This record gives sequence, C-alpha cells and structure tokens, in this order.
Amino acid sequence: MVVVVVVGGFFGDEGKGSVVGYLALRDRPEICVRGGVGPNAGHTVVYRGKEYRLRQIPSGLVYKGCRLLIGPGVLVNPHVLFDEMKRYDVRKSRVGVDRHAGIIESIHIEREKKSKHLSETIGSTLSGCGEANSDRARRTLRLARDLEELRELITDVPQEIWAAVDSGRRVIVEGTQGTFLSLYHGTYPYVTSKDVCASAICSDVGIGPKDVDEVIVVFKAYVTRVGAGPLEGELPPEEVKKRGWVEYGTVTGRLRRAAPFNMSLAKRAIRLNSATQIALTKIDVLFPENSGVREWGRLSRRAKEFVLEVERELGVPVTIIRTGREVFDVIDRRR
Ligand code: GTP
Ligand code: IMP
Ligand code: MG
Repeated sequence: MVVVVVVGGFFGDEGKGSVVGYLALRDRPEICVRGGVGPNAGHTVVYRGKEYRLRQIPSGLVYKGCRLLIGPGVLVNPHVLFDEMKRYDVRKSRVGVDRHAGIIESIHIEREKKSKHLSETIGSTLSGCGEANSDRARRTLRLARDLEELRELITDVPQEIWAAVDSGRRVIVEGTQGTFLSLYHGTYPYVTSKDVCASAICSDVGIGPKDVDEVIVVFKAYVTRVGAGPLEGELPPEEVKKRGWVEYGTVTGRLRRAAPFNMSLAKRAIRLNSATQIALTKIDVLFPENSGVREWGRLSRRAKEFVLEVERELGVPVTIIRTGREVFDVIDRRR
C-alpha cells in the first residue's frame, strides 16, 4: 500500500482527520498531503490527550516523521496556516506548499460575508474559498509563488510525491469535505466550490489514477450536515439530542444537523470514489457500550451486525472502525 487516499462519503465531518492521524502514526508515511478545497474544512485529531484542530496542515502532523504538504489545487490562507504552525509548534522544514496553490485574501472573505446568497441561502463557512476559486477560474487569483511570506515553504508537491512513490515510500492523501458537498456530484447549489471526490482530490495534489493503491471512504455511523441543503431522514433537534448525536462545526461552531445512516447515499459514494476500503467512525456514539473498544471481538453484537450489514450492502470491506475521539480508539481490520 503505497498511495492511500482518504475521502468523506457523506457531507463532510465524517472524521477524516482522526482516520488520517491514525494511519500516519500506524503506517509511518513519508508524506501526508492535503487535497480538497482549503481552510473551509476543519479536521480534528486527538493524540495523547491533546486536541489538534486543523484547517490547513494535514492531519498526519501527529506523526513527527512525515512531510506535510498542501497540493496545487488547494487554497491557502497564509494567516490560518502560520497560526496553526505556531499553535502546534510545527517546524517550517516539515511543511511544503505547492507554488501553484491559490491564495485567499481578505477581499475574498469580505465578498463572501457581503453575499446574502452564500451566507443565508447556502450556509457557506465564509472562509473565502468560493470567492477565491471563482477568481482562480477567472485567472486573476494570486498563487503561493507570488507571496514573499511563503517563500521558505514553497515546493513542487507533485514532484515530491512522485519521488516517494518511485522509491516505494508511503503517501497519505487527505481529502476534505464529503462526496455530497461536491460541486458536481453533490446537492447543488448546496455544495462547496469544487469537486471533492477521490479523483478530484488526487488531481489537487498531482497524482494520476494509476498511482493510487487504496481509496478509503470514511462514513460516520450516522449522517450530519452543516449549512443548508437536503438531508434525507433529518431528525428534529430534540431527537438528535436524545440520541446523543449533538455535534458542533469545527470551523464555524454551528450545530450540525443529523439523520440516520443512509445506505443509498453510501452506495453512491462508494462508486463515485472507487472505494477499496471503508472507515466507519463514531460507532461509540451509535452504540455507547463500545466506547474505546479496540478489538473486533469486544464489540457488542449489535455493533458487529451494523458493521457487517454495511459491508454486505456496499460490497467493500470495513477495515477501520473508530470507537472514540482519541486517535488510537480504533479497530484496524486491515491485517
Ligand atoms: P471535514 O473535512 O471538515 O469534513 O472534517 P473531518 O471529517 O475531519 O471531521 P471533524 O474533525 O470536523 O469532525 C469529527 C469529530 O468527531 C471530531 O471532533 C473528532 O475528534 C470526532 N471523532 C472522530 N472519530 C470519532 C469516533 O469514532 N468517536 C467519537 N466519539 N468521536 C470521533
Ligand atoms: P463553503 O465551501 O465554505 O462555501 O461552504 C459551502 C457548503 O459546504 C456549506 O453548506 C458548508 O457548511 C459546507 N462545508 C464546506 N466545508 C465543509 C467541511 O469541511 N465540513 C462540513 N461542511 C462543509
Ligand atoms: Mg470538519
């Protein structure tokens, strides 16, 4: 398994950050690289009691031995990036930003805040991503290579990845958002500003389809969504509370809407992403008696039945099962 791509199967916030953090600590890749839109995403990793909330730096940062890259298709807000590097004490020598990564400037954020369409109708994170991507399509956006302050971080991300791949060293490609927030495959217009399925995430970092070994699609044990747009089977807030499914957005702090696991959406996500493996998160939230369980044999019967049903219906092995917030609260069925 050289190149592993991790993407979201629903509407984002499936727990990709914790899956990537675990894979990095366990598989010790040479590189962890972020694809996806940009700092509209918030990934969370909890390691040794410390919580890392990441909007730019790849979640592999918890494994000290890997290089942390941001691909040319990803947007960078330098303030957010430098703030994270400082907060989590990440050395400059570990971080690389592709010279062609697009730059979010305050004008993009201001434009989004002024847009009633984005703030009220779509429920955008207002982090400037949509406006920056729109400038990129107009070919007026500034790129990372144009910024003096990024000089020390600039690199050729595809080249770094190819060098690792050619010598058989592992690469983890971290996607953001989720399949149904894709500009093409999601619930348009209630979507983000780019495609975010596996092939787009690969394109964001410069990997062609034949260089990919595994695609892990991450599903949460129930479905959540922040912002506007359809959510089949959406539960009223009192019911979400009763079930213990209450969550708040990492970037915006908004309450996440919730619905039960949706098998037909999951089937579509499997196909759209060419999934070879499934990661299931928050099994401990759906079935509290499994909190912190790290062995298959110790899962409760109803939890095992749920996992096996997902596997049977989707025809793809569930290899990673998460049972808590800590990065090692996981059952790894890959070997
Ligand atoms: P986006 O790219 O923004 O979509 O984010 P994400 O997929 O990385 O997920 P995010 O970190 O926004 O939300 C997941 C939340 O669930 C975080 O607070 C994690 O710490 C937490 N989490 C992840 N896996 C589990 C799990 O198995 N059990 C529990 N209880 N919490 C988990
Ligand atoms: P934007 O990409 O910030 O413009 O937001 C567009 C839509 O995608 C809104 O509904 C956001 O809530 C949603 N969205 C964007 N990024 C994420 C994410 O990382 N997790 C969950 N939802 C997101
Ligand atoms: Mg998130």
